[in-house]
Amino acid sequence: MIRQLGLVSALALVTALGGCAAMTTPGADMPVTPVTGTATAPVDYVRDIHSHARPEIARVTHVSLDLTADFEAQTLSGAAALDVTAEPGADQIILDVRNLDIQSVTDAAGAPLRFETGASDPILGQSLTVHVPAFAPGERRRIVVRYATRPDAAALQWLTPAQTAGGEQPYLFSQGQAILTRTWIPTQDSPGIRQTWDARIVAPSDLKPVMSAEAVGDGGELAGPGLTAWRFNEPNPVPPYLIAIGVGDVAFQAIDERTGVWTEPSMLHAAHDELVPTAEMVDVAERLYGPYRWGRYDILVLPPSFPFGGMENPRLTFATPTIIAGDRSLVSLVAHELAHSWSGNLVTNATWADFWLNEGFTVYFENRIMEAVYGRERALMLQSLGWGGLQDTLASLPPADTRLKLDLAGRDPDEGMTDIAYEKGAAFLTTIERIVGRERFDAWLKGYFERNAFRPMTTERFLEDIRTHLVTTKALEDQLMMDAWIYQPGMPSNWRPPVSDAFVPVDAAARAFFADKGPASAIPWSGWSTQERQRFLAWRPADLADGADWLTPAQLADLEAGLKLREEGNAELVHAWLQIAVQHRYQPAVPTLETFLTTMGRRKFVLPLFTSLWAEGDWGRPIATRLYAQARPGYHPVTTGSVDAVVGRP
Ligand code: BES
Ligand code: ZN
Repeated sequence: MIRQLGLVSALALVTALGGCAAMTTPGADMPVTPVTGTATAPVDYVRDIHSHARPEIARVTHVSLDLTADFEAQTLSGAAALDVTAEPGADQIILDVRNLDIQSVTDAAGAPLRFETGASDPILGQSLTVHVPAFAPGERRRIVVRYATRPDAAALQWLTPAQTAGGEQPYLFSQGQAILTRTWIPTQDSPGIRQTWDARIVAPSDLKPVMSAEAVGDGGELAGPGLTAWRFNEPNPVPPYLIAIGVGDVAFQAIDERTGVWTEPSMLHAAHDELVPTAEMVDVAERLYGPYRWGRYDILVLPPSFPFGGMENPRLTFATPTIIAGDRSLVSLVAHELAHSWSGNLVTNATWADFWLNEGFTVYFENRIMEAVYGRERALMLQSLGWGGLQDTLASLPPADTRLKLDLAGRDPDEGMTDIAYEKGAAFLTTIERIVGRERFDAWLKGYFERNAFRPMTTERFLEDIRTHLVTTKALEDQLMMDAWIYQPGMPSNWRPPVSDAFVPVDAAARAFFADKGPASAIPWSGWSTQERQRFLAWRPADLADGADWLTPAQLADLEAGLKLREEGNAELVHAWLQIAVQHRYQPAVPTLETFLTTMGRRKFVLPLFTSLWAEGDWGRPIATRLYAQARPGYHPVTTGSVDAVVGRP
């Protein structure tokens, strides 16, 4: 049902949005055909408190970008032409913008349109209201916004050559999720509003733009002295947070006929070798939950300042180089971002309060891919690590924030980016799977992706779907406790934590070292996988008080030397070790900390370390201040935004 009505009645809205043609689902035997010209059934728009748009009145259906990347000025400038449909009689359309220089708004013929921007909110940015002649029934119009981004656009990071692997060319990349696309594209920036899009990107000829879309044509065209224009097209309607760009000295190597890796030339061999399992993962994912609907699946391995582990930009996952560990030990990140091609990119959280529908489903699906490719034991270890993290999160968050359906009123959607959406969300689906059986659960989930493809999903419509197609008896309803999982804090009583047999000896070794003060030489480190090592380093005494030590300086030194932690190259392990070191004010690890924090900007690593340093008062704060002054210029706005709140701006 339509929950939020504007000027028009629900009935008029459904009529105006037109009939719903049936989705065509390619069979399993036509794997690489992208689905184009996707039919749009009427969308139930729900109020998104993080967008100014009123799609129930007027909505953007297509975005056509024509932008020039100026690395000197650090701006993208040009035009966004927006196709708009609206309710009959509607005479304005509201867009989201933040920190943009708007030069003009015109109609398709170039005639100026009146527009105004609303009050500026630090999180939401501004509304951009464009006044247009009243829409006739069924009419579709084009408006053109000429604009430029600012050098400090929060979605964009402009890297100097020194911040890249090659050291010779600058680099630009974007990060749209959750509400940053409005800092580089003036459109309706809500995950509930899908738009097809295309782009013409002009960049210096020695750089190559890549986007989360199909590349059109084989090469670029000359666009002026030293400038080349490249074209892209995304025929599937996507929420704007999935529009993404990277521009740099990047090269490509195929993995199989539909997967491959983009990265700087000096990184290409290592990145390709690490990501070879990607091809099999796509095959496995399709066998589980239906055809991959996006044509190619490539991965762009970014410079180290990329603020996330990965970002599921359609057709082109963006990934941190910290997953290039040399032994394929961190490829579950690829399984995760790939899984988003269904959970997130096909079926999308309608608002950020429904974020668990993206991330919880994805963590569940990720684990199923890992199980299919690497076996049950590895999958259980990963689940177990997830449960460990979730327990810490449950202990640290206010209970209201441990519900799956979030209340983000007045808050940045970033605040919902916790293990609750990811791990409690996945635990919920694992619980349903355990109770109804894998076969029935898989059949439902595959159907859920098909029925809701290219559509926004709310928690309430998820409940409707699962109650219609899977949970049809009172007995099952009672067993599953779905409302408790979604609307109550904590873990419901039907939760059964994962048990990994492989972790039993790891836990014993951890107790022997950490609690019983045994020697590091007794830790069978070299025989362990990365997941076993992570488990070991995550060990904490059950009764650990805030700020208390659990290791002596001698133990820390023994651990550091015994496990060769100064030479460790796996970023997950370095991070886990540095957490221990900082919490014990272990001075000898400060050089390792300094290297780690100044050579990589992944927020998941950077923010907890600065937070721990800050908690260590007179010891940690001067170190934090010194290292942040050094590191901050290299970080993406997503990371500085979070760390500024802890350490302050240097
Ligand atoms: N979509 C997220 C990243 C994200 C979430 C960006 C919310 C901005 C706002 C991505 O799929 C993700 O979850 N990345 C994780 C890695 C994953 C393996 C858990 C990350 O970056 O750590
Ligand atoms: Zn994710």
